Amino acid sequence: MEFNTIKFSLEESIGIITINRPDKLNALNGEAFDELDILIKKIKNDNDVKAVIFTGSGEKAFVAGADIKELNKCDVESGKEFARKGQIVFDQIENLGKPVIAAINGFALGGGCELALSCHIRLCSENAKFGQPEVNLGIIPGYGGTQRLARLLNTSVAAQYILTGDMITAEEALKLGLVNSIYPQNELLNAALHIAAKIASKGQIAIGYALKSIISTNNISQEEGMLLEANLFGECCGTIDFSEGTTAFLEKRKPVFINK
Ligand code: COA
Repeated sequence: MEFNTIKFSLEESIGIITINRPDKLNALNGEAFDELDILIKKIKNDNDVKAVIFTGSGEKAFVAGADIKELNKCDVESGKEFARKGQIVFDQIENLGKPVIAAINGFALGGGCELALSCHIRLCSENAKFGQPEVNLGIIPGYGGTQRLARLLNTSVAAQYILTGDMITAEEALKLGLVNSIYPQNELLNAALHIAAKIASKGQIAIGYALKSIISTNNISQEEGMLLEANLFGECCGTIDFSEGTTAFLEKRKPVFINK
């Protein structure tokens, strides 16, 4: 599949999506969102893709935000649409049903930070810089930043960074829990691939249900979440993979999952 603003490659069962506008620091324009929408829908229904990695082209930026040239033309109505379009694509990423890892290889600003926030696991390079600098442009984060950053960190930390527009270094991001680990730039993608491959080696029904239950914490109470967890746990117990996983343990051998 050929795109203008993104690249897609498959390594074993791991899909790698690279935002590919390096001369604009991988800023996301409307075409990028249209292409991501097509690709994500395709990946969702493709059983050959068990995990996805997002990264940016070049060594300077993951994504430096929404395309400010396009944004500059927005009025009240089109601004709302501009935000909704990004939110919908990022929601699709979060709800892909497969693990999505952000390999953040440089600036992750505005929409770039929001893209990372919609991924399930975040790793970064030593030169990564995060931030929601929208207030510097007279706007607020529009692709979920006010919501996901406040939920992931806390409202006080999110308020400080969103209201000042200050950048967050990789080290600070690690301390805050915004990323799980930091790697030298040239080791980042391999680290992401290593984690993705480990996840891909498990039974994919359990992986999908675990993600579903974890993500549900954004929307439902703990009581409802417990019920969902118990239901999904029960569903797992009806799978061939459950029988294989538990039997393999008892027989002291490695399980062979068939995702059924
Ligand atoms: N939208 C559109 N173009 C962008 C962009 C964005 N979000 N971020 C960077 N670019 C473009 C620049 O306009 C420049 O293009 P040009 O060479 O045609 O002039 C190119 O990418 C390189 O960026 P530049 O600003 O020259 O690099 P830098 O190293 O001096 O600064 C940043 C890097 C990330 C600090 C700076 O580009 C920046 O602040 N970008 C905007 C970040 C932002 O506000 N994001 C939120 C948007 S809602």
